[in-house]
Amino acid sequence: MLGILLAAGRGTRMKSARPKVLFDINDEPLCFAAFRALFDVCDRVIVVVGYRGADVRESLLKRAHEAFGEEAVKAKVLFYTQEEQKGTGHAVRTAIEGLGKGIGSYEATLVLNGDLPLVRAETLRPLVADFETRRLDALCLSFEIADPTGFGRILRDASGQLLGIREEKDASDFEKKILEVNGGVYCFRNSVLGASLAELKTDNKQGEFYLTDLLGSQKQASLRTDAVRVKNAEDLLGVNTTFELAELRTRSQRRLKKDLCERYGVDFVDMDSSFISARATFQGACRVGPACSVMGNSVIGEDVDLEGHVLIKNSRISKGAHILWSSVIDDSAIGERAKVGPMAHLRMQSQVGADVKIGNFVETKKTTFARGAKASHLSYLGDAEIGEESNIGAGTITCNYDGFNKFKTKIGKRAFIGSDSQLVAPVNIGDDAYVGSGTTVTEDVPAGALAISRPDMVVKEGYAQKLAEKRKLATAKNLVNSKKD
Ligand code: UD1
Ligand code: CA
Repeated sequence: MLGILLAAGRGTRMKSARPKVLFDINDEPLCFAAFRALFDVCDRVIVVVGYRGADVRESLLKRAHEAFGEEAVKAKVLFYTQEEQKGTGHAVRTAIEGLGKGIGSYEATLVLNGDLPLVRAETLRPLVADFETRRLDALCLSFEIADPTGFGRILRDASGQLLGIREEKDASDFEKKILEVNGGVYCFRNSVLGASLAELKTDNKQGEFYLTDLLGSQKQASLRTDAVRVKNAEDLLGVNTTFELAELRTRSQRRLKKDLCERYGVDFVDMDSSFISARATFQGACRVGPACSVMGNSVIGEDVDLEGHVLIKNSRISKGAHILWSSVIDDSAIGERAKVGPMAHLRMQSQVGADVKIGNFVETKKTTFARGAKASHLSYLGDAEIGEESNIGAGTITCNYDGFNKFKTKIGKRAFIGSDSQLVAPVNIGDDAYVGSGTTVTEDVPAGALAISRPDMVVKEGYAQKLAEKRKLATAKNLVNSKKD
């Protein structure tokens, strides 16, 4: 089986310079659902690109590599360019001509419109089965819809025999009332496909080569064709406008979450307010609070608790970790039973070990915390390594940047960094060392030592009283500026 994905169109009705097939849905390119379905079912997949073809190719490949591995994709996928978008029939012709004699290796071809974000392999299998058992030349999937505006209508005779497909723009008022529409999913017999494509004409309102003209007896009397109505019409819902996209995003999120509930027992406190990427992996029952976003190729372990308003992006959250309200975790890893937040920001390969505690308003960048370390309040910890059981006091800052370069801070095991300290990197703090509150650490602190750098404190008894007297005197001499500014 050969697969062809049609992704050359601009998608004018989206009113954007961005190609329609690259709008995102479930954190994937819009055309990836159709691509995945073809990849699962076919021996080879051809993607026809055109409008901003290089961008479409790059985005699709990036996601495909992530999902299937570079080798598998390389072995199966080809891209051909349809220089001018002269219609869906012309796009398929571009693919077939590109493949040349190679077509001989494939018995039949599945063609999918690129703008079907809810289509899946299960949608295609009954189509293929039907196509085979009935020995048809061309078959498409159809469905019934209350508002068929924009779709090609399925024309049948009184006995139900397929006569053809009429595009909206070419349809008569009578035909426009037909509620059975073409879903944009086709299967063709390769022995006749090339010749039929060559016969396509542009005698229609849009002056395009319609792929749909290969179906029905009106234009292709010699072919055995049909349209099969699918039960699960949702699979075939397409995107032509940003509103349709917004609606399908909601539907596809629901579908994805239902699957996560059924497979792992993911517990969504307020399902519709959360966003879960199709690229994310869940490992078991866990809790997702209100308004959480799990983006990119994140991994969420068993028993994790995302309290709410949490953003997890390209990060791994291990078993039993608890991410509290409004925390942002980006490109980082959180260890088992660790507690992060509320309002913490961990980014750029930060690695938090097991049983670590990161509290409010702590920002980390490229920082590792070994098991049991703590930074409970108000800190910037960048390019740092923090040893087991060490405690980072409130307000500690790693001064990792001198305006030219970034430097590392290393803190050993069980160290105690007093509140409001600045660690001027590069600097090392040994195991069991102490840094007094308010210290500016500019040199290494050996294991077990205390470093302290603050001026001695001075207490002046009765100071307030003296000041009051001074002010009284000044006022009497009219030396105080009384203007209120
Ligand atoms: C098409 C069908 C219509 C069907 C509907 C289902 C045709 C003529 N009509 O209409 O019967 O009901 O899909 O969603 O096929 N594309 C190319 N090259 C081109 C033109 C389009 O690759 O020259 C691609 C687009 O990128 C898109 C797909 O083909 O992914 C469908 O194109 P679109 O313009 O959306 O077709 P519709 O008008 O929706
Ligand atoms: Ca469409």
